[in-house]
Amino acid sequence: MKVDKSHVYGEMTMPTIIKLAEHMKKHKKKSFLDIGSGYGLITRGIDEYFREKGFPIKVTGIEKDLERFEICNKINFTKKIFKDKYKIIHGSIYNHMDLVEEADYIFSNSLLFPQTFPNKVVKFMKPGTIFVHNTARSTIDYKSEMILSSSWSLKNHFKVYVKR
Ligand SMILES: C[S@@+](CC[C@H](N)C(=O)[O-])C[C@H]1O[C@@H](n2cnc3c(N)ncnc32)[C@H](O)[C@@H]1O
Repeated sequence: MKVDKSHVYGEMTMPTIIKLAEHMKKHKKKSFLDIGSGYGLITRGIDEYFREKGFPIKVTGIEKDLERFEICNKINFTKKIFKDKYKIIHGSIYNHMDLVEEADYIFSNSLLFPQTFPNKVVKFMKPGTIFVHNTARSTIDYKSEMILSSSWSLKNHFKVYVKR
């Protein structure tokens, strides 16, 4: 297994994960989807925050995410009872739009995704679902912004979209 330490690869930080969990709690959202797992820190953090509530937390990822996600499980010595929770749904989100339909709260650190990506996601969301993303030049309308820290900057602007 190789850990990706390249300068172009980045992930969100723990304060961001807590901020997302608190935002989700404030808006009474009960399920979470991370589009593009990376090492899976968000999945794990959100799951642990809501552990007693038992909310469903899902995550997708393409080829390289499978290894990254597994590394996270290894270094955290994930217990057998949590193995099912920390399972990545393999494949592009475009082939798993059912996950978008189910989720109450969707996050995507998707700066480099195609500009049209958010438009595709919002089409499948149910009313009331919140979508937080940073896709560059996105044309979808948004309610507000969140400033979130990542491994490459303390202040990243994420758009908060709420489906009507
Ligand atoms: C910047 S990382 C985000 C990692 C983590 N979610 C975070 O925010 O810290 C974006 C991830 O999205 C994955 N990705 C890219 N295209 C995707 C697609 N079509 N479907 C699902 N995941 C995708 C990439 O492999 C990458 O791991």
